Parts: sequence; C-alpha cells; structure tokens
Amino acid sequence: MINNRIGTYENHTIGNETYRSYIPHTLPPQPNIDLSKLSLKLEKANQAVGELNAIAKSVPNSSLFVYMYIREEALLSSRIEGTQSSFSDLLLFENHQKPDIALDDVEEVSNYVKALTYGLDQLKAKDGLPLSLRLLCNIHRILLQGARGASKQPGEFRVTQNWIGGTRPGNALFVPPAPERLMEYLGNLEKFVHNKDFDNLIIIGLAHAQFETIHPFLDGNGRLGRLLITLMLCERDILIEPILYLSLYFKKNHQLYYDLLQRVRIDGCYEVWLEFFLDGIWYSAKQAVSTIAQLNFLFEEDLKKINALGRVRYSCIKVWEYIKRLPQVTVPSLAKIKDLGMTAPTIRNCLDILDLLRKSFRLL
Ligand SMILES: Nc1ncnc2c1ncn2[C@@H]1O[C@H](COP(=O)(O)OP(=O)(O)OP(=O)(O)O)[C@@H](O)[C@H]1O
Ligand SMILES: [Mg+2]
Repeated sequence: MINNRIGTYENHTIGNETYRSYIPHTLPPQPNIDLSKLSLKLEKANQAVGELNAIAKSVPNSSLFVYMYIREEALLSSRIEGTQSSFSDLLLFENHQKPDIALDDVEEVSNYVKALTYGLDQLKAKDGLPLSLRLLCNIHRILLQGARGASKQPGEFRVTQNWIGGTRPGNALFVPPAPERLMEYLGNLEKFVHNKDFDNLIIIGLAHAQFETIHPFLDGNGRLGRLLITLMLCERDILIEPILYLSLYFKKNHQLYYDLLQRVRIDGCYEVWLEFFLDGIWYSAKQAVSTIAQLNFLFEEDLKKINALGRVRYSCIKVWEYIKRLPQVTVPSLAKIKDLGMTAPTIRNCLDILDLLRKSFRLL
C-alpha cells in the first residue's frame, strides 16, 4: 500500500553546517484517515457547531456578537506570541482614541480584524477572490502591515529558508520545505481546500496542519493559519457567522498543539492531531454558545430595567445601544455623535442611570 504519511528530508549546507529541510507529502494522506477512530469526536464537534449556528440565528443582535467575537479572537490570536493589548485598547484604537500601550501591539490586533473581514468579504462578493493562494497573500499582507513581522515580506511567499525553534536551521526543531519546493505544496493545498471527499472538519484540520508544515511565509504563519480555520468554516457554510475560533484552545494547549503538529510530520499521526483538532472545535463552539447565551441574557435583563424607567428610557436606550458596542465613552465623546443628537446634560443623566444597570457592560 502507498504510504505517503511520513515526509522525507533533504540535506543542505550553510558554511560548514549541515541541516535537513522537510519534504512533506501532498494531501490527502495515504493510507486514508481512519475515520472509525474519529467518528464520535466528529459527530460531537459537528453537533456543537450546529448549536452555535442555531443560537447565532436566534439572537436579535447577532452583528454585535460577531463584532465582539472577531475582536476577541484577534486579541487571543495575537497574544499567542506575547502581544499585550487588551479589549479596551483595541476598541479605543479603532475609535481613534489613544490607548495607553505601544501602538504596534494594538495595530497587530486591529490588523487581524481587518484581515479576517477582508477575507470574508472577498468570499461573499460576487466578483471577490475565491479561497486561493492569491487571497491568502492578500490577507497576509493586511495581517502584517505595520505590525509584528512587517519587515518580513508581507503578502509574499518566502524565497528563503525559515525554521521553527532554535536560532538557525542547523539547530532548529523543525525546518520547513526549502523555498523552491513551496509551490508544489501550496498548489496542492489550494486544491485540497476545495476537496469534498471528507467531512468538512476533517478537511479543515488537515489543511491547518499542512499549512503550518509548509510555513510558506517568513512570519505570520501562526496567525494566518488560525484565521484560515475560521475562513474555511465560513466558506464551506458550516458556520453562518464568523464566531468560532480556536485560538484560546491552541493557547491553552500550546505545547500539545505544537507536539501534535510535529508528530504528524515525524510519525504521520494524522488521527491523533485530528482528535485534538475536533476536540478544539467542540470546546470552542460550546464556549461561544455559552458566551452568547450569557450576553444575550444580560442584554435582555438590561432592556427590561431600562424599559421600566419612564420617559427617560427613550434617551437611555439610544445611549445603551451605542455603548453596547463601544463601552468606553465620555460625555463629550457621545455629545459629538450626530446620530445620537443628544445634549451633554441629557447624556450625563443617561450615563448616571445606566451606571446603575451596567452589569452587562462589565462583561464586555
Ligand atoms: N515548537 C513548535 N513545534 C511545532 N510548531 C510550531 C512550534 N513553534 C511554532 N510552531 C508553529 O509555527 C507557528 C508560528 O509561526 P510564525 O512565527 O510564522 O507565525 P506567527 O503568526 O508570527 O506566530 P504565532 O502563532 O506565535 O502568533 C505557530 O502558531 C505554530 O503553528
Ligand atoms: Mg512569528
């Protein structure tokens, strides 16, 4: 039987040091994935994603959840490599108010939001790009603009050797394929992301591992690889809104995550990686369902209280709708908003009243 699960290596020499770069196999793996080991986890993961879609459809303000979720993911995804910005820093930055921390950090998080939004828009637009290498490069360019890795050829596949762990290829933990081999694997990956022979989640899990193995960019492969999971979930219509993210799961289990990617390369252990990946989908979908349910409950409670206020409720609702999206406001900043059309004293009065009911904002 053909066995193309375990890659091979090729030797290179720099100066008087030799290193081995990895030569992976193309997807799908042969022998085929043993689905009997995965069926239970696959079913659980698909069910949890179904629940998430159902709750996303049923909440009245799903765009608010999407807004918050994309931003939370951006923070988590960037924090994997130590970016320090917080949720409020990001909101302040996006609303042209200056946060108290290094702008580079917030810029990276903000780029993630922009890059994901761009990718989703392209997939939706009639004349937009399909899921393709060109789309990946465009997303990568946005992701790295003015942020971590900005000097490392944003939007362009690497033409030099990179490595993972260590200070040079010679002492690295893993050396991805040599640059001249990239296009063969990228071409295969581009084709594979449209594969329909396996369950969607299996395809996405395999594509993620292969993307990280190819490591086609000089930097940002982690961020783009995680973003790609959500993009593929949406592209395949498994997810109706971009509200499922694995970053927190990968972050919590980062050593295992790295080890399992490495085991795919060394032992061809795709099933063990896929089990981990499917658990991650299940865990993240359940988390999202619970957060949305909690937020929705709190918003409903708030609204009940505001509605019981008497005439002042009309202005309070307007302010409340606004600060649900942007919780850090001041009287002058709200007074400037034409859509609100309210005077500073009215705004101050509303904020004082809402202050008493603000438990839903604290959660954000
Ligand atoms: N020790 C390791 N073993 C296996 N894979 C690793 C290891 N360290 C990193 N990786 C993979 O490489 C990615 C990081 O690659 P790169 O630095 O190009 O991307 P990034 O977006 O800057 O990083 P990050 O994921 O930290 O945000 C990780 O997300 C992971 O997938
Ligand atoms: Mg990096």
